[in-house]
Amino acid sequence: MNKMKDFEKQIDGIISKLSLKEKIGQLNQPETPTADNAEEFKERVRNGEVGSILMSVGATAGNDAQGGISVEFYNELQRIAVEESKSGIPILFGRDVIHGHRTVFPIPLAMTASFNEELVEQSYSDIADEASNEGVHWTFTPMLDLARDPRWGRVIEGPGEDPFLGSAMAKAIVKGLQGDDPSKKGKMLACAKHYVGYGASESGIDYHRTEISDYSLNNYYLPAFKSAIDAGAVTVMSAFNDISGQPVTSSRYYLTDILRKRLGFGGFVVSDYDAVCQLAKQGVAEDDSDCTEMALNAGLDMDMHDGVYMKCLEKLVETGRVKMETVDEAVRRILRVKFQKGLFEDPYCKKGAVDIEIHRMHAKEMAAESIVLLKNEGVLPIKKSDRVALAGPFIHERRSLLGSWMLDGKPEETPNMCEAMKAKSTGGVTSVNGTDLGWDSSLKWMCNTDVTVLCLGESWTSTGEHRSVSNIALTPDQTMLIERARSTGKKVIGVLFCGRPIEMQGIADNFDALIYAWHGGSEVASAVADIIYGDNVPSGKLPITIPRKATHIPIYYNITPSGRPVDCYYGENAGECYVDSLPTPYYPFGYGLSYAKFVYGDIVCKEPEIAFDDIKSGKKFEVTIDITNEGDFDGKEVAELYIRDKLASMMRPIKELKGFKKVLIKKGETVTVTFTLGYDELGFFLPNGEYVVEPGKFDVYLGENCLTERKITVEIK
Ligand code: GLC
Repeated sequence: MNKMKDFEKQIDGIISKLSLKEKIGQLNQPETPTADNAEEFKERVRNGEVGSILMSVGATAGNDAQGGISVEFYNELQRIAVEESKSGIPILFGRDVIHGHRTVFPIPLAMTASFNEELVEQSYSDIADEASNEGVHWTFTPMLDLARDPRWGRVIEGPGEDPFLGSAMAKAIVKGLQGDDPSKKGKMLACAKHYVGYGASESGIDYHRTEISDYSLNNYYLPAFKSAIDAGAVTVMSAFNDISGQPVTSSRYYLTDILRKRLGFGGFVVSDYDAVCQLAKQGVAEDDSDCTEMALNAGLDMDMHDGVYMKCLEKLVETGRVKMETVDEAVRRILRVKFQKGLFEDPYCKKGAVDIEIHRMHAKEMAAESIVLLKNEGVLPIKKSDRVALAGPFIHERRSLLGSWMLDGKPEETPNMCEAMKAKSTGGVTSVNGTDLGWDSSLKWMCNTDVTVLCLGESWTSTGEHRSVSNIALTPDQTMLIERARSTGKKVIGVLFCGRPIEMQGIADNFDALIYAWHGGSEVASAVADIIYGDNVPSGKLPITIPRKATHIPIYYNITPSGRPVDCYYGENAGECYVDSLPTPYYPFGYGLSYAKFVYGDIVCKEPEIAFDDIKSGKKFEVTIDITNEGDFDGKEVAELYIRDKLASMMRPIKELKGFKKVLIKKGETVTVTFTLGYDELGFFLPNGEYVVEPGKFDVYLGENCLTERKITVEIK
């Protein structure tokens, strides 16, 4: 605490000596410097106009013309700021290190599928190690936009559809990036984004409007941000979207009343790219001056890229439209973070060595635990001596395995499925790219093998920012390949390298086994090969619903009940929901198979009745269950705990995830899994933000996925 007090005194001293222009410079994160504008950019740094720098733009930075980071160049900019500018305030360097810097980890949606917070934390520790070693102080991650619409391209960057799981991921990522002190070597500052509700973009169209009630905001969209803040996230990025007609970027209600006063956020808010000047396009501001006045007065501290704070703020203060205290408070928040990062003590990057091989090993571990086995009708694992027909457009694919935000990852350093399978096989792998299949010969070709493995998926170019799709189906050529492979009569294993959930009707049916490998990063191919040959056992579970078809979107597990029979997610009564289609998901939230055979016992709760006052005073009660592995493989199982508040003052979901535990259970072993429930798990937020636990009955479910019917009832009296 003393350290923080020192900061305040030092910050007071710095601010007292700054001119208004220098203060505004601290709020300014201009465009990324390039070789072409380097000298002019250095002059702006010398004049104190650059508080932060966006080190790269776009998801493939290290592979674009701008190339990877020049540590020398950024150290020189820093030297100018520290030694030549009047204030001497160091620059804060930020970058989109979303799921990898040089070693690429699985996309965040895939990492969430691991349900393994420790592994996610380790992944982000490696990511911070690599990026900070090249001078990145601050990453614009974790992206915490829950989404129920896989047409949205950015669903791949977030933690799926559930607030409890999203909150667990938020904490793991922030801890991995920042550690217990972000100024330490190998650590960097996190940024919880995009605050808030971006994942609700209408029709899954990026940047589109959203309609979110306070009730939904409090119970669904905010918890992951609260978790990131409680984990120590020192920055937040405001979202492009509006909420019910109010742009977040200019909303004091969202940026100050809720984010700061209610959630207790103490860091600084950076806008999304050009989001401040875009207020004019959203029709709430006349010009750049209006945009600036609205955003800063709402509580938006740093302006990313459009330069309108630098352009307009001086006049706005001189004319009284923005108070000097407001500017000072924004400067204070930013300087505090720079102190927390240790920039005043040690502003320069001293590039050292990082253990890329260890990071790749961890990336493989992460990929392996993110892989979800969706179907296995006695096919997997295969023997190394099996003769394999390997086909499909993804057998030689490298780039798409890295997903959207690959930054400095190198496709040429990414093993593909053909290499990974051949490295393990002893029976031989005959491989042909799906599009090369001369179909007349293929029947003979495929019939001379024991099993077919089809490697399919979606291109990384259909995922990520500004890459929403109206059609979430596999391409027709891939669908045809599946049908023809099926016609050979051989067993067909499918491996899907997708970023988002894709529609499964007419697809999954045609496989004997189906593996969802996501865009799983630098080592996903070898992780998949390990699983196909049984050298590893799949343990991932779905963080997001996989629909039968796109026309069912939005479809998600935590639905509220209805006054009339709505059997959609949980029922099979087609007639009750659609007259022309089963309404249920193809694969539900929390679903995933193993090679092991996990048998759940009965739920045990020694206190099925608990006094409300005890709960209110912090008493927790335990719920336990035995899980036995009756299979032939050791395996990890994710036990999932859901509750249902049976009677409340507001409608509550039919199921809400309130706990999960991933445990290793050796074959023949029984493990007892224990959960504790109490005030924090049983309540919900009213529209006004008040958190309440209401007496009454709660069903407590425990099982393999959200469809489990295994439950007990607990009463809070
Ligand atoms: C982009 C994205 C945001 C990213 C920022 C900087 O538009 O919305 O996620 O961090 O700009 O690249």
